Amino acid sequence: MELVHCIYCSASTKVVKPTDLATLLAECREKNSKAGLTGMLLYSERTFFQVLERDRPVVEALLEKLTLDKRHARVTKILLEPIEQRSFAQWSMGYSKITKKELADIPGLNDFFAQGRSYMELGEGRAKALLSAFKEGAWRLSLS
Ligand SMILES: Cc1cc2nc3c(=O)[nH]c(=O)nc-3n(C[C@H](O)[C@H](O)[C@H](O)COP(=O)(O)O)c2cc1C
Repeated sequence: MELVHCIYCSASTKVVKPTDLATLLAECREKNSKAGLTGMLLYSERTFFQVLERDRPVVEALLEKLTLDKRHARVTKILLEPIEQRSFAQWSMGYSKITKKELADIPGLNDFFAQGRSYMELGEGRAKALLSAFKEGAWRLSLS
């Protein structure tokens, strides 16, 4: 089986309240634990950034379901590529409360967020820089 990761962004269809987020995370964690999926999720100013890790068919099937979910729209795949090992093996869906202000200081993002831009405009290079900050950088400890 080919292990892959996928990074995508999407726009929430309404303002996500802390209780909505808690419900979403609980749902993701339960389903992902059963499906052997791992990854991380960020939410900032009505946009989501998510990393998903698992065998290609499982990730592709989830992406199809995700695009039908009315809680978000404009599901935009940034990358889907083979990986040697998972970055978030211990997280059925790690979540960090990183703020837009904090995002602006992540190395490799080149003040991207300081310019008021959102996850939707990230592109592959910056998406990988963001993943790295949570994989091995200062932000890893913030994942819960
Ligand atoms: C931002 C966002 C992230 C999501 N992440 C996941 C996820 O990691 N795993 C998952 O199973 N469902 C996730 N969902 C829910 C799916 O869109 C969908 O509701 C769910 O997979 C339906 O599963 P079922 O058809 O097996 O009941 C997410 C939904 C949103 C809005």
